[in-house]
Amino acid sequence: MTIDSAPENELEADLAGTTTGREWWRTAVIYQVYPRSFADGNGDGMGDLVGITRRLPALRELGVDAVWFSPFFTSPQNDAGYDVADYCDIDPLFGTLDDFDRMIAEAHDLGLRVIVDLVPNHSSTAHRWFQEALAAPAGSPERARYMFRDGKGADGSLPPNNWQSVFGGSAWTRITEPDGTPGQWYLHLFDASQPDFDWNNPWVREQFRGVLRFWLDRGVDGFRVDVAHGMIKAEGLPDYTPPEGSGSMGGAGGVDDIGLEPEISVEEDEPTPPYWAQEGVHDIFRDWHEVLAAYDGDRVLCAEAWVDPLSKLADWVRPDEMHQAFNFAYLETPWSAPALRRVITDSLDAFTGVGAPSTWVLSNHDVIRHASRLAMQNHVQGHGLGPKSTNKPDPALGLRRARAATTLMLALPGSAYVYQGEELGLPEVVDLPDEARQDPTWFRTNGERYGRDGCRVPIPWEADAPAYGFNDTGASWLPQPAEWATFARDAQIGVPGSTLELYRLLLEQRRELDLGSGSLQWLEGYGEDVIAFRNGAITVLANVGDVPVELPGGGDVLLASEPLDGSTLPADTTAWLRS
Ligand code: BGC
Repeated sequence: MTIDSAPENELEADLAGTTTGREWWRTAVIYQVYPRSFADGNGDGMGDLVGITRRLPALRELGVDAVWFSPFFTSPQNDAGYDVADYCDIDPLFGTLDDFDRMIAEAHDLGLRVIVDLVPNHSSTAHRWFQEALAAPAGSPERARYMFRDGKGADGSLPPNNWQSVFGGSAWTRITEPDGTPGQWYLHLFDASQPDFDWNNPWVREQFRGVLRFWLDRGVDGFRVDVAHGMIKAEGLPDYTPPEGSGSMGGAGGVDDIGLEPEISVEEDEPTPPYWAQEGVHDIFRDWHEVLAAYDGDRVLCAEAWVDPLSKLADWVRPDEMHQAFNFAYLETPWSAPALRRVITDSLDAFTGVGAPSTWVLSNHDVIRHASRLAMQNHVQGHGLGPKSTNKPDPALGLRRARAATTLMLALPGSAYVYQGEELGLPEVVDLPDEARQDPTWFRTNGERYGRDGCRVPIPWEADAPAYGFNDTGASWLPQPAEWATFARDAQIGVPGSTLELYRLLLEQRRELDLGSGSLQWLEGYGEDVIAFRNGAITVLANVGDVPVELPGGGDVLLASEPLDGSTLPADTTAWLRS
């Protein structure tokens, strides 16, 4: 974008210079597009950049500030694009670099910032860098790009340590050397097709600086950084057995065992796993911070970091490191007033302490959609839901709670993330047939865990169109449920009280009242099950219990997640009142 005249929108104004303390990402609502499932321009059943570009105006109308795109880079798609074979090109499934340039230009014209996904912990085995490593001998500079090690035992036939892959099974795979003999092993914290880089190698660091600059030069406003907590491993790669039931990688059981997103143990009485949250990651973040700072405007790095407690996660967003980190502690908090009060307080304390905004998030492409999850008990994230699950949620209760939860979230100061389809109230799809499933978790656990496909189904735009308007052929890489017509965007737009209209109102009022840069004061006296606080001009009351409560006398209701019954706030309902 050239800035040769008066800025036409806020985004252009920001690109004209940095705005320390007022950077857009401090308060932004960022919408996650999962490219496979947003909109399909060529009708092959897989979403693509042309389809996304056509539908961008809908996001402007929704009222979000930025869009984060899950990966669309060249990839064999073993992990839905999180297995990258070329960081600087677009997979033909999704289009071309020209399509990307048109998409970002359209987004910027609409005043939407663009964040792309950076996947630095691992590449695909199909990446040229890995193929060259396989062809080169042990001990070569090419092998040193990744984590190759000799095996244990007299003939090297045992893996170098006991680490388990997040998706199930050993985290090591043995290669066959170019001469046909059994050879070294390489580390993959995820699928065997996702070899981990050795981030202690300056060559790797240099390549990724290049990747960042490639996309910054094309105009992106920032990066969501995949598995930011995994890039550095402890010296010597020591064996590690997660405490039983702790939910650490490969561990079993517990609501915190989220499989894909392992709980990071950093409590004093539990050792930090040698593959997560190592101190060495901070140097990398500082390096990248400088790369971004050399560009004009305010660019953002947001860490996907499953790190707890929040006080530890705050180290990741110190002033010269990442700008934001996903608040997964918030996402994982059950629908309980004391638990929500605590996580909100801890988040604001932790992030404010380092001068960073807190983020808030309820759904993404890795977790059960919150319109289902909030009505579930004892679920294990990462395991997903399927036909044989015994803990299927009540859809009506789930949707009601999801609307209340979002109405609460969007009243909080800081930046919030919204996952495509949640503005339509979409639930998790629980009845996908086994043969349709594509998540590597499903295959690596022999169907023991359903995995994440249920939150990735292409979203409905038009009730009466083929594939609900996802494309015009009716093809869809995951089958869409028969009952999704009622969730379609065109069935909700302009309908008072629909979930889509609720989101539009929330986003409009959040912006108007500048809630993102506000501050929160807790209010007492509404009862144990009511979350009550003031943020600027509004009082927020969320009734998380199951009995209605009286609204304060004279309360002037600005909006509510459900119709109110006279002067009472029903169960599972949130209201914003003018203070
Ligand atoms: C992404 C997942 C992906 C994994 C490996 C995650 O954190 O969000 O979708 O499977 O990283 O790249």
